[in-house]
Amino acid sequence: MAALGASGLLRTLREPAGIDLSSNDYLNLSKHPALATRLIEGTVREGCGSTGSRLLRGERECFAEVERRFARFKGAERALYFSTGYLANIGVLTTLAEAGDVVFSDKRNHASLIDGMRLSRARAAVFPHNDVRRLERLLAGSSESGVRFVVVESLFSMDGDVAPLAEYATLCRSSGAVLVVDEAHAVGIYGGGGSGLMEAAGIDDENCISINTAGKALGVAGAFVAGPSWAVEYLVQRARPFVFSTAPPPALADALDASLAIVAEEPERRERLLVRAAYLRARLAAAGIDTGASRSQIIPIFIGENDRAVAVARAIQAEGFDVRAIRPPSVPAGTARLRVSVNAGLSEATLDRFVDVLAAALREAGRCSAASS
Ligand SMILES: Cc1ncc(COP(=O)(O)O)c(C=O)c1O
Repeated sequence: MAALGASGLLRTLREPAGIDLSSNDYLNLSKHPALATRLIEGTVREGCGSTGSRLLRGERECFAEVERRFARFKGAERALYFSTGYLANIGVLTTLAEAGDVVFSDKRNHASLIDGMRLSRARAAVFPHNDVRRLERLLAGSSESGVRFVVVESLFSMDGDVAPLAEYATLCRSSGAVLVVDEAHAVGIYGGGGSGLMEAAGIDDENCISINTAGKALGVAGAFVAGPSWAVEYLVQRARPFVFSTAPPPALADALDASLAIVAEEPERRERLLVRAAYLRARLAAAGIDTGASRSQIIPIFIGENDRAVAVARAIQAEGFDVRAIRPPSVPAGTARLRVSVNAGLSEATLDRFVDVLAAALREAGRCSAASS
């Protein structure tokens, strides 16, 4: 603990306070009355807990129903609901990738994908972030006879940049590899129907598997794995986080049904989110604040040192904005940052005020030479 403190890595648990610029509730669905109503009705009908694994007494029709709905939404043959995105990623990588297979993984992939790879019996090969040419060479040079998986996030959770999904899909098609895409921060937001960046990139290959968390833009909890029937059925039979764990509370499936209905019926929500995110990126750029390669609602403000990132976050929090410092191991050493996440409910006036507060805090910390707006 002392070592963590000395290196600026000691974390504290802190409740939400101030204007939300740090949650993943991008579409403001977590507090939507329609979701709450369905959650209550589902709880009254099914009870609080599922009382068992899905393969035992935990199964309910509402799980199957929302899985069918999600599969249609995603344009996939089948979907399976896991209790968290973390466990869905562990389940996919430890079940589908076996001894003799290879998992090619983007260097900036989320911890849950890294842990899934570590627990898998397949060989792991890490390629530089978003580097399609390097991946191509690695695929060409691999000698294993088993299945090759290419694993990426579609929207990277700490940088807000986007993977070249169309190029990966082409490469996987020509090399026979299976593309696995973590759509945690994209599902509900991108693509014409809001199903994610795979939709936006026009990827509807049979050989793709996606993991779609339900606790971020969809506002509830858990995650859907979507893909070909053979893969999903294999997960039902063998994925240890699915088989050996109590099913989530069934009412979550009802709340998610309501959430998916809103995504379908209110495209203006995600349009507003993207407009607000572009507005904030433009205002930050005008104030001379670097947001790296962000093209999305996730906007990193790079600070560097851990302690300094925490100090800047505190100064901003004192002005009423809930912004959090992100430090290693969530991001590489020396790249501590604020991870600003925009939600659809923020007004331009609020974002303007935030830019002023941020610019002042960065100037104070010696991290921004430009004047505020
Ligand atoms: C890219 C990515 N994948 C997976 C997860 C895990 O999802 P969950 O929070 O549902 O466990 C997260 C969430 O932190 C994430 O950012």
